[in-house]
Amino acid sequence: MNLSKPYLTTRSLQPENQETPIQFIKNNIISERLFFRRNHFSYPNLTYSSYWLPVNGHVRNPQLFSLQNIMSLPSKTLTVVLECAGNKRSFFEPKVFGEQWEKGAISQGVWKGVPLKTLLQLAHIKEGALEVVVEGYDVGKRTDTDKVYSYARSLPIEKALHEDTLVAYEYNGGPIPFKHGFPLRLIVPQWYGMASVKWVKQITIVNRAFSGPFQTVDYVYYPKKDSDEGATPVTTMRVNSSIQKPLNREILTTGVHEINGIAWTGKGLIVKVEISTDSGQTWTEVKLRNKDQYSWIDWSYDWEVAEKGEYTILSKATDSHGRVQRKEPYWNRKGYGYNGIDRIKVKVE
Ligand code: MTE
Repeated sequence: MNLSKPYLTTRSLQPENQETPIQFIKNNIISERLFFRRNHFSYPNLTYSSYWLPVNGHVRNPQLFSLQNIMSLPSKTLTVVLECAGNKRSFFEPKVFGEQWEKGAISQGVWKGVPLKTLLQLAHIKEGALEVVVEGYDVGKRTDTDKVYSYARSLPIEKALHEDTLVAYEYNGGPIPFKHGFPLRLIVPQWYGMASVKWVKQITIVNRAFSGPFQTVDYVYYPKKDSDEGATPVTTMRVNSSIQKPLNREILTTGVHEINGIAWTGKGLIVKVEISTDSGQTWTEVKLRNKDQYSWIDWSYDWEVAEKGEYTILSKATDSHGRVQRKEPYWNRKGYGYNGIDRIKVKVE
């Protein structure tokens, strides 16, 4: 019996940023204990006894929802992969500044909540509504100014009205764990994790573009090192895959070894994963499992290796929009959206 167990990998403690040990994840539903943590500020102090959720702004009928109200509305339950836009940042060349995430700023599980659309309909959005701003309870100073901000981001109105954009109140069948947004967090399937605002304090419909720093300074692709030319917002996840087994730099014997991993995308479904065991000279399509709409898929391949030596193993995913993982990821100054072909090296003795 194996009594050892994986732990989170610490990237920073204040604010708390910890990575899922993704190589050791065997099932598709991640427990709270192993779910990655990504915070910009200290955890908020909430007084739950007086928790009310205002939905206001460019609406005819501003609302103040109690948790009981929200939980009594028709709900949806979805298995969703959440990937931080900075996942795999440490692999960019040239190197970039920011949390040096490896492959574990990603997790998935089952979220239950009310569609944001339902709350917006109850508030009767006015003509001309452009975006929906969701503000969290956490506040603090950013490194680039002395001003105090709360974590707030907007969604374009079409994404806010998407039937699967949820104001969630359950994770894996229980209340949302505190560090992941209790009592309410937004869940925006297919977008990078920054959109899924935790500890929701207020929802405001606006008729102009929201310009908070978590979408005008951070979570923007800056393709140039020294200027902001060509900047575009970070939104949907890129097509991606990760090898879980074997481990990078593992030493194996000759024989048959299972190579396995996960693949995911923010557009459509994963339709193909190929792996190469000869540094990309030849590729083989592998078996895919559980093609759920918003979750990662698992893939596996039995690799028969007779010859001793060093091998570079690569994985490459394709989605139903024809997007393919790239050999050269799109470099950007803040290191978002890394989706270069995944790569490990093993030695067979
Ligand atoms: N919501 C609030 N209120 N504050 C935050 O710092 N971080 C965002 C998002 N929502 C954040 C937030 C980012 S960048 C990510 S990747 C996810 O939450 C991480 O969610 P997790 O900590 O539950 O893994």
